[in-house]
Formats: sequence, C-alpha cells, structure tokens
Amino acid sequence: MTVTLEVVRALPKIELHRHLEGTVRPGTVHALAVANGIDLPVDDMRTLYTYRDLRHFLDVYETVCSTLVSPADFHRIAYESVHDAAATGIVHTEMFFTPHVHLSRGVPAAHVWDGITAGLRDGIAETGIGVRMIMDCTKFLGPALAQIELDLFTSLPDPDGFLVGIGGDGIEAGVDDAALAPVFAEAARRGLRRTYHAGEFSARSVADAIRVLGCERVDHGPLVVEDPALAAEAADRGIVFTLCPSSDVLISQVYPSVREHSLPRMLEAGLHVTVNSDDPAMLGRDISDEYVTVVEQGLVTAEQLRDIAVGAADACWLPDADKTALRGRMTAAWSAFC
Ligand code: ADE
Ligand code: ZN
Repeated sequence: MTVTLEVVRALPKIELHRHLEGTVRPGTVHALAVANGIDLPVDDMRTLYTYRDLRHFLDVYETVCSTLVSPADFHRIAYESVHDAAATGIVHTEMFFTPHVHLSRGVPAAHVWDGITAGLRDGIAETGIGVRMIMDCTKFLGPALAQIELDLFTSLPDPDGFLVGIGGDGIEAGVDDAALAPVFAEAARRGLRRTYHAGEFSARSVADAIRVLGCERVDHGPLVVEDPALAAEAADRGIVFTLCPSSDVLISQVYPSVREHSLPRMLEAGLHVTVNSDDPAMLGRDISDEYVTVVEQGLVTAEQLRDIAVGAADACWLPDADKTALRGRMTAAWSAFC
C-alpha cells in the first residue's frame, strides 16, 4: 500500500508530542499581535518560522507566546489546535503547555489554564477527539520554578481531568536534570505521569530521565542509541520514545537530514517509538506529513508505520478501559490499510 498524505490523513492517529504553543496558526499569531499591540520582529511569518538552532527556535517560540495575553487568546489557540488536530486525523493527543513562557510575562496561571481548558472543551465538543495536557517545566530554570509551576497548576480547577502529566522542555545541553528529581517525585505523588525532553544533545539526559526522574516516556531521545546498554535498559523497561524526526533535523539539528535519523536503529534495539510533529505550525508540518516522511525517507516500511501508529495507543496515558477501546479502533482502521 502506498503511503500518501491523503491516505495517512484519513487514518486515525495518536499524537503524544505536540506543544500547544507550537500549534498556533501563523495567521492567529499575526491577528493576536495586532489585537494586543505586540510588535512582531518580521512582516512575513515565513521568515519568523525559520530556525538556526534550538536556542533560536525557543526565542521565536517566546515571540509567538508574547501575543497571548487574555484567557480569550488561550481559548482561541486551544480551540484552533483541537480543530487542526482533528483535521489531520488525530483522534487522541496529549499536548504540552509551557507555563514559564506565559507566567514570566505576568500572565496569571488561572488565565492560562482557564483559557486553554475552555478552548479544549469547545473544540472537543465539536470534533469528538480526545485531549489531555502535560505541564512542561522549563528545564534550565531549575527546580524552584518547576515546583512553583507544579503547585500552581495542580491547584487550579480541572473538572475534565485534562492535566495528566509533567514534562520538561527547553535547552538540553548543560542542564542539571537530576536537580528536578524532587519535583518529578512530588508530581508523581499528585497523580501525574512523567515524561521529559532528552537525548537530542547526548544519551546522558535519557539516562537521567528514566533512572533519576522516573519517566515512563522520553520526548525525542534519538541519541539513546549511542549508549547500547541504556537502550537495552529502556527497551526492557518499556520506555516510550515520542520521536519527532523532522524537528530533530530542523530545530535541534541532531542530523543533517531525516534519512540519517536513528529511528531504524531504535526499532532494531527493540525500543517502543511513536512518531510525532512537535510543533506543527512552527515547522509547517503536522503528524500526517511526518508519517509520510518517515516512510518516504526510508526510515520505516508501511507495515512498521502501522505498528507504530497502533502502538501509540499502548503508550498513551488514558485509563485502561479507554486505552483498550482506542487500541481496538486503531487496529481495525490500520489493518484495513496494510
Ligand atoms: N519547546 C517546544 N519544542 C521544543 C523542543 N523540540 N525541544 C525543546 N523545547 C521545546
Ligand atoms: Zn517537544
């Protein structure tokens, strides 16, 4: 079966590595900047969305976030994100949001959370997709801030149970991951699942994520293959890697092209991988594009893609009964494909 964009879009998909702030449509960034009197550094959004490296990407990320001020702004981006996810065939997503980029501008946590959750609720009512949220602390800013963010967002009302996990993003190189251990342990005591951006700079952060922070998932993680003993341990423990191959090329520049990505070596090592977009609007590529790319660039066969897509149901953080139902739905649709 040929893996085309049209075919992939029509198949159900689960996205476990998707940053809400990275899903903001370029037109929305522009409209909110005008409405809120924020000067964007460029006239052409295409210029804004081209990156020199991760640090530059994170600067642009902050520029995008600078246009988000009121609860209505957060409502809009969450609502549009749910619609864009549904339009590309996502049936369930676990999405990151990063408090620091908002709180540091003086936006109250309640405005962020109330706006996001109201937007999700409205988007979900219209599309029927499943959405959960993961709070990403900003790794290089350390444990004190992460603890404050954890306290804030676990004390806000969440009647829909959107908040299911804690993660960490931002710069990887030189970060003291272990310093976050008490915060991650406390998050687990409060019922949150754990994941962490790691393995884009070295394998060491992957080791910290699973051995020290107690993570069940690793976001990105391609360099785990540089440490075969660690890869074997991660495979044994069933650690899930939420890979974003294009992002690893375009943002972190781990590889010169997707062709060189370690995804095939990760599969050979028996690792549980999923394929995701990371920041679909900011990269101009969503999960369907990514599924097509990994096949076209020779990283996986159509059959392997099917198994990866279905396997994402086992990797998600829904209650067991919902997971089983989702797995059944994924298996039925994808086995009709190949
Ligand atoms: N924030 C959003 N996307 C990110 C990425 N790929 N790595 C680190 N921080 C991020
Ligand atoms: Zn990410």
